[in-house]
Amino acid sequence: MSKITAAITAVGAYVPDYVLTNQILETMVDTNDEWITSRTGIKERRILKDKDKGTSYLGIKAAEDLIAKKGLDPKEIDMVIFATATPDLPVAATAAYTASKIGAVNAFSYDLQAACSSFLYAMSTASSYIESGRYKKVLVIGADKMSSIIDYTDRATCIIFGDGGGAVLFEPNEEGLGLQDEYLRTDGIGRDFLRIEAGGSLLPPSEETVANNQHFVHQDGKTVFKYAVSNMADASAKIMDRNNLTNEDVDWLVAHQANKRIIDATAKRMNLNDESKVLMNIQRYGNTTSATLPLLLSDYEKQLKKGDNIVFASFGGGFTWGSIYLKWAYNS
Ligand code: UT7
Repeated sequence: MSKITAAITAVGAYVPDYVLTNQILETMVDTNDEWITSRTGIKERRILKDKDKGTSYLGIKAAEDLIAKKGLDPKEIDMVIFATATPDLPVAATAAYTASKIGAVNAFSYDLQAACSSFLYAMSTASSYIESGRYKKVLVIGADKMSSIIDYTDRATCIIFGDGGGAVLFEPNEEGLGLQDEYLRTDGIGRDFLRIEAGGSLLPPSEETVANNQHFVHQDGKTVFKYAVSNMADASAKIMDRNNLTNEDVDWLVAHQANKRIIDATAKRMNLNDESKVLMNIQRYGNTTSATLPLLLSDYEKQLKKGDNIVFASFGGGFTWGSIYLKWAYNS
């Protein structure tokens, strides 16, 4: 019997309707379109305005998109992994609520939190379950309502982030397609440079933490940028070396959309001279944290061909980062 590999067999996505443009941000904080575009590559982002809707709404919509496109019976889903840094509630898994809402009544489910690397790590986890032979259909959702943790008076963060959701289905493959290799790393030094200070067990919510704006994302952008460039590029170069992939062999780079300059630096390190191989939608969505990778797959799905070599890469808070080499498994 041939080895079982874990392949992506379907993709779904959802972004909210409201478009927060650079021009609108100019009216909110001291910034301008030229600065944002040249420093980040972002032109606009989507925001979930409805006050009564949390991240699960984005994930449910993305999963429903996948289910409809694939013609999948949700009762066949064995497990749901919900990658997110902005769960609906601190306790009570967003995954469980989502699985019930989409009709995945035979699945077990849990949340996975690794900041901007949540989805990449969830791909690894889902693949391991498939490769073990224990489960046949694992749904991985990546969604974040970043607007719920952003201070819209802080120009260092509010220009970067947006809301969105994406989903992929992992299934067993016997043609050798799907996940081939991974290189995943963490370094706790990052905790000081990108975080929400309060609301966790270290500093529970209080009147003081609210007054001090400690429930919003704070980052030392310059330091995060430096680590992101070197680690994401290193991880991608390493996965190519380990698998004897030349720049010609790599068909697509699917990189976390945090800053166009970080993505460009990674592509350069991989010698990907052909810009069209570098998937990019940061200009339209900004950094949607756990949703960037599946949103890219959804936007470019029609161009991806069976057997294509894809390098995924991410970097995020913690620090967390890594790279995955995957062979695409279908033509759409
Ligand atoms: O996905 C999670 C990981 N997060 C990231 O990967 C983010 C990584 N960091 C970045 O993408 C970049 O550091 C930023 C986009 C956040 C900032 O870009 P930068 O080129 O590192 O700018 P900077 O922080 O060094 O600031 C340069 C200047 C400063 O002014 P002075 O001191 O040179 O006079 C800032 O005060 O730009 C100023 N500035 C702004 N100006 C207009 C900072 N934010 C803004 C802004 N609009 N929004």
